[in-house]
Amino acid sequence: MLFSPLGLLGMVTVVALAAGTQHPDLPPLSPLQMTARNAEELSAKYWVEEAQAGLKSRLRQKNIEAKARNVVMFLGDGMSVPTLAAARTLLGQRAGHTGEESHLSFEEFPSVGLSKTYCVDHQIADSACTATAYLCGVKNNYGTIGVSAAVRRRDCAASLEEANQVASIAEWALQDGRDVGIVSTARITHASPAGAYAKVADRNWENDNSVVENGQDPLVCRDIAHQLVHMYPGNQFKVILGGGRREFLPNTTRDEENTRGRRTDGRNLIDEWQEVRASQNVSYNYVWNREQLLNISESLPEYLLGLFEGSHMEYHLEADTTTEPTLTELTEIAIRSLSRNENGFFLFVESGRIDHGHHSNYAHLALDETIHLHAAVQRATELLPEEDSLVVVTSDHSHVMAINGYTPRGSSILGRSNSRGDDGVPYMTISYTNGPGARAYVDGDRYDVTGDSNFGELRWRSHAEVPRSSETHSADDVAVFARGPHHALFSGVYEQSRVPHLMAYAACIGPGLRYCDAPAPVNTP
Ligand SMILES: *[C@@H]1O[C@H](CO)[C@@H](O)[C@H](O)[C@H]1NC(C)=O
Ligand SMILES: *[C@@H]1O[C@H](CO)[C@@H](O)[C@H](O)[C@H]1NC(C)=O
Ligand SMILES: *[C@@H]1O[C@H](CO)[C@@H](O)[C@H](O)[C@H]1NC(C)=O
Ligand SMILES: [Zn+2]
Repeated sequence: MLFSPLGLLGMVTVVALAAGTQHPDLPPLSPLQMTARNAEELSAKYWVEEAQAGLKSRLRQKNIEAKARNVVMFLGDGMSVPTLAAARTLLGQRAGHTGEESHLSFEEFPSVGLSKTYCVDHQIADSACTATAYLCGVKNNYGTIGVSAAVRRRDCAASLEEANQVASIAEWALQDGRDVGIVSTARITHASPAGAYAKVADRNWENDNSVVENGQDPLVCRDIAHQLVHMYPGNQFKVILGGGRREFLPNTTRDEENTRGRRTDGRNLIDEWQEVRASQNVSYNYVWNREQLLNISESLPEYLLGLFEGSHMEYHLEADTTTEPTLTELTEIAIRSLSRNENGFFLFVESGRIDHGHHSNYAHLALDETIHLHAAVQRATELLPEEDSLVVVTSDHSHVMAINGYTPRGSSILGRSNSRGDDGVPYMTISYTNGPGARAYVDGDRYDVTGDSNFGELRWRSHAEVPRSSETHSADDVAVFARGPHHALFSGVYEQSRVPHLMAYAACIGPGLRYCDAPAPVNTP
């Protein structure tokens, strides 16, 4: 049974609603409940002072015109705007509050905008075309990474043409003498982190065998793991932390935790990465568990490769904490490692499993992964001064999770709605328009999910309307939060492909060089 801040209130209150009423009167919290919780909210003064304090702090917020030495981009994969609202409520409820009034760390950033996520050939995007947009600054086709829309999915030949390849902000940073790191709780060869280094006609080409399975030659169109270890810019990255060992290992071997490799070229790319570093006479470490990672954290090598799972890292609430580091630990080690370069760095950090929680209609897991992104961002802002480090937090695309009306204030965000459908059957506050949580009708009646004894458990599937084995992304805009140099540039509503151009301007690298050294736009073509 779930923690429910207002006890039974949300469960026993059933409002008789006239059919067709759009905004029914709701039973108010009893004075006792309100006084016990947020008594101050009953006065007008509270809200006026809250607003005035916010205004005052906004007026004091200075524009930071200096160049950003460091840029950290956090990505919540699939972190839609409703996901933010639900996660902040859960965060507050875990602390014993009503919840709705809480905030995630990055919701305090001074500037927020919205980005439009569609890709060139699809109304509703995937993580591959969006990664190309927010890391390379170019929109392209669904399923493709690091190439322009001239490349159709699985067109190996077109993806090799130099004119069709696009550079990422990781390359712009390297060309300026800065260091680069990537961190993800998904496989490090998965679409989002691959946007920093791969040029590939299909996001599924994570190992050579998947290239073969699509009838292509893996010696011609290199798989994503190979590109990371042996090709520019991946072969320059100082920090690589995530999941996905299987993509680097032969299918004749098993990794440290007994996951079978996926490669059929017989190559062990984890060994090869170490051999390259040894031949360069630089310090390096490969680690595969948390203990090893923390063990080297006081004397970090120049190059660090950490792969903590055969596939994706575990959901935080389900992880073996002795073997799996948290996103916050990974972020801190990456920042400390990269901070040694006086020229600065670019770091990409992904909370990759918000998306997976949603795809399974596991709302609780998706929200918890969002809360862990909040914690990692919090740590980054403690480590990096606002004056020289730009921190951007955004998402690649949305999901079809909705927060349904009309439960009273403080009701468990993972619990029942106090309302019923016009069919008389109750529903949950959170549901999805599609996904594996769809339930068959029972004798012509909608299934009553609120009768499930285990709702709210981590792997309880929220109700979905349209049955699908995997819930879908959606086309809603996603939020972009910014703090640090030139944060105000990130306000507005714009194409997702603008995001890296804004970061590059703030850092004065790559295409950002066009304007950043000159106060007024210059007439270059
Ligand atoms: C490895 O992959 C090859 C090619 O698909 C296959 O023939 C072989 O049976 C696989 N080996 C194992 C141990 O799965
Ligand atoms: C490798 O690096 C070490 C320490 O920096 C140095 O003493 C040694 O001479 C280097 N070896 C080569 C072959 O460059
Ligand atoms: C921790 O580091 C020490 C010294 O570098 C090493 O001897 C030890 O084996 C390491 N322990 C683990 C668990 O990696
Ligand atoms: Zn997805």
